[in-house]
Amino acid sequence: MYSKEEQRRLYDVSKRLLSQNTEGSSATEAAVLVADVSAVLRYNEWRYYIMDEPQLSDFEYDTLYKKLESLEDAFPNLQTADSPTMRVGSDLAEDLDTVPHLTPMLSLENSYNAEDLQDFDAQIRKLAKLSEDEPIEYVVEPKFDGGTIALVYENDVLVRAATRGNGTMGEDMTHNAKVMRSIPLRAEFSKHGITKVELRGEALIKKDTFDKINKQREADGQQVFANPRNAATGGLRTKDSKETKARGLEAFIYQLGYAESTKNESDTEGSLTGQELVGKLFKTHHESIELLGELGFKVPKMGVETKVCRNIQEVIAHCNDWQERRDSYDYEIDGIVVKVNSLAIQAQCGYTSHHPRWAVAFKFKAKQATTRLRDVEFQVGKIGTLTPVARLEPVALAGVMVSNVSLHNEDFINSKDLRIGDQVLVERAGDVIPYIVKSFPELRDGSEIPVKYPEFCPFDASKTVKLIREEGEAAYRCPTCTCGRQDYQKYVYHASKDAMDIEGLSKATIERLMQEGWIHSIADLYRLNYEAISKLDGFGKRSAEKLEKAIEKAKQNPIHRLLASLTVHHLGRRASKLLAAEVENVFDLTHFDVEKLTMVREIGPVLAENVVAYFSDEKNIAVLREMEALGVNMKQTAEDRKNQPNTEGVLSGKTILFTGTLTQFTRETAEKAASAAGASLASGVSKHLNILVVGEKAGSKLKKAQALGTVEILTEAEFSNLISTSPE
Ligand code: IVH
Repeated sequence: MYSKEEQRRLYDVSKRLLSQNTEGSSATEAAVLVADVSAVLRYNEWRYYIMDEPQLSDFEYDTLYKKLESLEDAFPNLQTADSPTMRVGSDLAEDLDTVPHLTPMLSLENSYNAEDLQDFDAQIRKLAKLSEDEPIEYVVEPKFDGGTIALVYENDVLVRAATRGNGTMGEDMTHNAKVMRSIPLRAEFSKHGITKVELRGEALIKKDTFDKINKQREADGQQVFANPRNAATGGLRTKDSKETKARGLEAFIYQLGYAESTKNESDTEGSLTGQELVGKLFKTHHESIELLGELGFKVPKMGVETKVCRNIQEVIAHCNDWQERRDSYDYEIDGIVVKVNSLAIQAQCGYTSHHPRWAVAFKFKAKQATTRLRDVEFQVGKIGTLTPVARLEPVALAGVMVSNVSLHNEDFINSKDLRIGDQVLVERAGDVIPYIVKSFPELRDGSEIPVKYPEFCPFDASKTVKLIREEGEAAYRCPTCTCGRQDYQKYVYHASKDAMDIEGLSKATIERLMQEGWIHSIADLYRLNYEAISKLDGFGKRSAEKLEKAIEKAKQNPIHRLLASLTVHHLGRRASKLLAAEVENVFDLTHFDVEKLTMVREIGPVLAENVVAYFSDEKNIAVLREMEALGVNMKQTAEDRKNQPNTEGVLSGKTILFTGTLTQFTRETAEKAASAAGASLASGVSKHLNILVVGEKAGSKLKKAQALGTVEILTEAEFSNLISTSPE
């Protein structure tokens, strides 16, 4: 539909228009602008609705839409019949029958921040002629992100279900609504004097159901769905109701759009709008939703999904709160809908041709945005791993500016076909670190450069140090880091919360101390000249003293912290604690061989080999001896002993392994429970394994254990019984 060149051009035009002030344009300028903005909006509608690959954020789209509206306001003769402002988006397809809605299904106006919501409140006051201090109640509901539906009940029976379509006409999907369990086929409206209703709602797929569906599709070799919304809208519009059923669609009802009743029969001749008819039956929106809940519909739960707020401040607090917890909610939502609760005030506010004036959508900050990949640089980690990092044109994502994003490894780059100069889609969901979802090959102009993974360490002056990729690992490492980057990361990690936890020894301080040439090993961190530090720019007596105090304190750390701080590959916090519980003195580890180490709970052969390699390297031992001489604790402390295995437990001295899918426990809780009962966790089935706990769909491990004949095999229930007899 759009050629590559056209897409590229429209993208550039959209970015230009966004940064351009279009107010006060002359008639000639306006004519060009209207044509450009219209073309860009049409293109982006196609990307959004048809391709499901939005290129602009909702905010950017709305900004352009508003620009077009105000240009057309200023120059009405420029508004064409096919202008994007002349219609509400349509998703009508050809294969289902189209049916008219009883009242038009409008859109919602968007808001993005507290100020917008305050403006909304002020507007309501103006329309309803309410003064500043008269309270207005608002109902807040999730803005469900699925497929919109309209259900018609006549004489208590579901007679029709339709999609939103173009707002006036929808697609008949009654056959599909009938297989959705959350849609009652009958509801006792007549008990309340209601003869005919149209309900509005959203069909959704729970996030975890969606994950299961996609896993299954992947296993079946089918194309996976891009998101729950796509899977939901597709499920509504299929001719095959079995498919709808299989997708586990649920329908939330959030609006009574139209109601005929014995009480308002004389008004049904078209003089009253749907909402006005509803207003004859109920006083508030909340009341109408409550009744629908009582009649068996799935409505947003009071106090959980919906709330009546006493004023706009409460609304704002609620919106901010939901923005934070949207990711932990079971369904996808893209904002909060704020509705005036009183139906009388709603009636005073009325509608535009596009939206009700008594409601507004508070849109969450976009989680996705497009931007340009400027460059790819490499960072050296504490064990010499080279991590590619994307340098992006800074872009706002969920409220923060993002300019650097990790690209993980070579496989990641190759799988995404990333090129320098590409437009890329970046996503940041909740607390998740931002990542690149995809590039847009259709926007390339040929000047983009494929990212080349270096063969040799880019930081080594000789450029001849070949990077190595160890078996089973995705990352490349520089085997002989001479540039200091690896050392720097080691020191940073040494001082971090996970390791020695030295407050005040920040990245910047470490960098500074290295620049001064004062640090050549971790031992040097314990022999700093604080007098000299206090004289450095930006330091002073107080910060030097604080640093000294923190370092003196760290010297007394339990040895598990020291072990974790040494950057032995795979020796993290947990393994360090288990290891520290086994030795009286750090130097005891110089006498441990791989076999002895693997006897320690949860320590596998790979880690064991790394520990042996570290403690048999004389240079490492010399540094540790220096640290000891400088006062760093090397002896097991009471805290280290706390992690000693439970020798009283029912599983003490036993090695255990879990396999298959557990139903009562998660893997983690099962392992914790086993450890608490004194067991050590084995890494595989071998003659050293005592117990294998099998969950559902256990495979090769079970077979191997059965073949060995020496392993005790327990079901999950047997394991659960066994540990419940273990002393705490
Ligand atoms: S009320 C006349 N409430 O958002 C009032 N809409 O842009 C119209 N939506 O496609 C809508 N959750 O389907 C309302 N709690 C909610 C909603 C909601 C999602 C959808 C609606 C429409 C879009 C409006």
